[in-house]
Amino acid sequence: MPKALIVTIVLLTAVSSSLAMSTSDCFDCHSDDTLTKVVRGNEVSLFIDEEIYGKSAHGELDCTDCHEDLAGLEDEHGEELKPVQCSNCHDDAAEEMTAAEHPAECSDCHGKHDILPPSDSRSSVYDLNVPGTCCTCHSEQETPDVCVQYESGMHGMVLLRSGMIFSAVCNDCHGSHDIRGAGDPESMIARANINDTCAACHKGVVETYRQSIHGEIFRDSPEDAPVCTSCHSAHDTERAMDDAFLITVVKRCSTCHEEMGYTFSKNYHGQVTGMGYTRAAQCPDCHGAHDILSRDDPESMVHPDNLVATCGKCHPGANRNFTMYMPHADYHDAQRYPMLYYVYLAMVILLTGTFAFFGIHTLLWFIRAYLENLRNRSGGAH
Ligand code: HEC
Ligand code: HEC
Ligand code: HEC
Ligand code: HEC
Ligand code: HEC
Ligand code: HEC
Ligand code: HEC
Ligand code: HEC
Ligand code: HEC
Ligand code: HEC
Ligand code: HEC
Repeated sequence: MPKALIVTIVLLTAVSSSLAMSTSDCFDCHSDDTLTKVVRGNEVSLFIDEEIYGKSAHGELDCTDCHEDLAGLEDEHGEELKPVQCSNCHDDAAEEMTAAEHPAECSDCHGKHDILPPSDSRSSVYDLNVPGTCCTCHSEQETPDVCVQYESGMHGMVLLRSGMIFSAVCNDCHGSHDIRGAGDPESMIARANINDTCAACHKGVVETYRQSIHGEIFRDSPEDAPVCTSCHSAHDTERAMDDAFLITVVKRCSTCHEEMGYTFSKNYHGQVTGMGYTRAAQCPDCHGAHDILSRDDPESMVHPDNLVATCGKCHPGANRNFTMYMPHADYHDAQRYPMLYYVYLAMVILLTGTFAFFGIHTLLWFIRAYLENLRNRSGGAH
């Protein structure tokens, strides 16, 4: 480009920008708090608070950096303006939003002229304020209401009541811009990814889980294995030591281990648990929670060598003999409990045999008595 042309362009730009409206020109009109406009029958304020704007993350920007179509205008502007494109400067966030298709605008979560960094406690996306921001749309949107559930769950209580910002807020589990439904394989809450999502904070628990039989199954077929949210609620997360959780977790184990759940419910510990008495053993007391192993594993709590210790937690005098009691005893199951099955079978045969013998015996006696009675009566008529 010839030197003269460059000089002309620079000069022209300087002239045009000296005539164009500056941010303070915009404020000449827009710092008037009575300035309004009627949009679809509603009165909308056009007031911009200069102080709030100046202290926002964009306080250094000119109005026309965002309201691009007003750049270069001299003293006034038209009525219909083009929408602001945040994506011009924040393409990462915008690209994630477009890919995830979560139906919200940047300004729904961030605001417009009062945007602050997420680390600022007054920001709408500061940890403590995120639930309120998401719940402007999500309260009463789903059944059951995720916002009500979150508030009464462990994470919500720890955050909202105790003010602990290291608790889980909506975007810790869902992302901020990459929000997707559970059915989307790229979602943070998809079955295959949910353990990693919880692991951001519960590292130790997730490591233990990975060593367990469930963790092993998860590696091969995530669809079959329980994940964190198979045993814990996502929003209404229960305190792990609460009785209500211990009773609920028995039901959750039993949705997959139907047979063991059934036999548990028919035996001593299950029957008293069914009545709401949680001091008796529930599944995790004998099997563990995140460290569940197959009975054949020498580390398993129900490996024959460890049963004295496992039962002994609650039955202090427990010895090997005591552990012969089978918490899942089922006399219908010949494969798992052959002794029980054959003893049961023998008892059934014995009982039916006995009843059959005495039944026939009684019947014959009856016939004999009847005939004798007849004979006696006919003898008496003579
Ligand atoms: C002379 C006063 C005046 C100045 C200077 C002015 N505006 Fe406005 N602005 C108005 C009025 C009046 C309206 C309402 C127009 C209408 O009824 O649609 C308005 C509306 C707007 C709207 C809303 C438009 C819409 O579609 O709802 C925006 C955005 C806006 N102004 C931005 C700016 C910016 C940025 C500047 C500086 C570059 C600026 N204005 C300078 C008076 C002014
Ligand atoms: C960070 C980007 C950004 C900056 C900088 C910005 N605005 Fe806006 N402004 C928006 C957005 C977003 C809207 C909502 C409408 C839209 O999406 O176009 C908006 C809307 C408005 C409106 C319409 C009323 C309302 O609140 O919706 C006015 C008036 C306005 N801006 C004036 C200004 C003035 C004056 C300045 C400079 C002092 C300014 N804006 C700077 C992003 C910005
Ligand atoms: C003209 C470029 C530009 C536009 C358009 C723009 N921003 Fe910004 N934004 C910036 C700059 C520059 C900063 C301050 C530097 C930084 O921290 O990234 C910033 C900071 C932010 C921050 C704080 C980031 C942090 O980590 O501190 C948020 C949030 C933000 N912008 C959101 C928006 C939203 C929402 C819109 C649209 C309404 C928008 N921005 C439009 C340039 C822009
Ligand atoms: C559903 C709510 C929501 C929407 C919509 C949204 N954001 Fe955010 N955004 C957040 C949250 C929450 C954070 C805080 C993340 C954190 O704490 O690290 C954030 C953080 C940011 C930041 C700070 C830097 C970063 O990425 O952590 C920028 C910049 C930003 N958003 C820009 C945008 C832009 C641009 C749009 C629109 C394309 C947008 N956001 C839409 C919720 C939202
Ligand atoms: C500890 C992680 C976690 C937190 C915190 C969390 N969610 Fe969720 N959310 C999930 C999981 C996992 C699912 C998938 C469904 C399920 O397992 O119940 C989900 C599902 C959803 C759904 C879809 C519900 C449906 O029925 O399709 C919405 C909407 C939602 N969450 C919004 C929120 C909002 C809003 C917040 C904050 C108030 C929040 N979530 C906090 C983990 C979380
Ligand atoms: C402007 C309103 C609005 C805001 C703010 C908002 N959402 Fe949404 N969100 C929606 C709508 C609308 C849907 C779609 C509902 C549907 O399909 O049933 C949705 C869907 C979702 C879904 C489920 C996606 C699916 O496909 O099942 C999740 C999860 C979610 N939002 C989380 C959040 C989180 C987390 C926040 C805060 C960071 C948030 N939303 C903020 C309006 C909003
Ligand atoms: C098979 C069911 C099950 C699965 C899967 C599971 N938990 Fe647990 N979790 C429990 C039970 C039962 C407790 C109650 C405490 C106990 O008995 O050790 C518990 C307790 C907890 C606690 C309280 C601390 C503690 O250890 O007592 C946290 C935190 C926790 N789980 C997080 C997780 C996370 C994160 C995952 C995902 C890897 C997960 N859980 C997977 C059943 C499960
Ligand atoms: C951002 C960090 C974070 C994330 C992500 C997170 N949690 Fe938590 N969680 C916490 C904190 C902090 C507590 C409260 C610790 C406490 O007081 O016991 C907690 C408490 C819990 C409890 C109750 C523990 C108890 O002692 O009763 C369970 C269960 C739990 N989380 C499960 C999950 C599951 C499942 C996920 C994934 C879906 C998850 N958490 C994701 C931080 C997180
Ligand atoms: C009082 C302790 C106790 C309770 C409570 C208990 N179990 Fe067991 N469980 C055992 C013992 C001991 C074995 C091994 C002997 C057997 O198979 O009967 C076992 C075996 C199992 C097995 C087969 C293990 C293998 O490696 O073959 C599963 C699965 C199982 N239990 C699930 C459950 C579920 C689900 C619950 C709750 C509904 C539960 N258990 C409650 C003690 C218990
Ligand atoms: C989402 C389904 C699911 C849930 C929920 C679940 N499990 Fe499992 N569990 C499995 C699968 C699949 C296996 C491996 C295949 C098998 O042996 O049954 C397994 C294996 C086991 C084993 C070892 C059995 C063996 O044959 O090696 C025990 C013991 C066990 N689970 C106990 C529990 C307990 C206790 C709970 C509740 C705290 C529970 N499981 C919750 C699916 C589940
Ligand atoms: C979490 C505690 C707990 C664990 C672990 C536990 N039990 Fe129990 N069990 C109880 C309670 C409480 C009762 C109620 C009767 C009582 O007061 O002893 C009971 C009752 C019994 C009974 C019937 C009543 C009796 O005392 O004769 C038997 C048999 C029994 N348990 C066997 C076992 C065996 C075998 C194991 C190990 C595989 C085991 N229990 C593990 C708490 C537990």
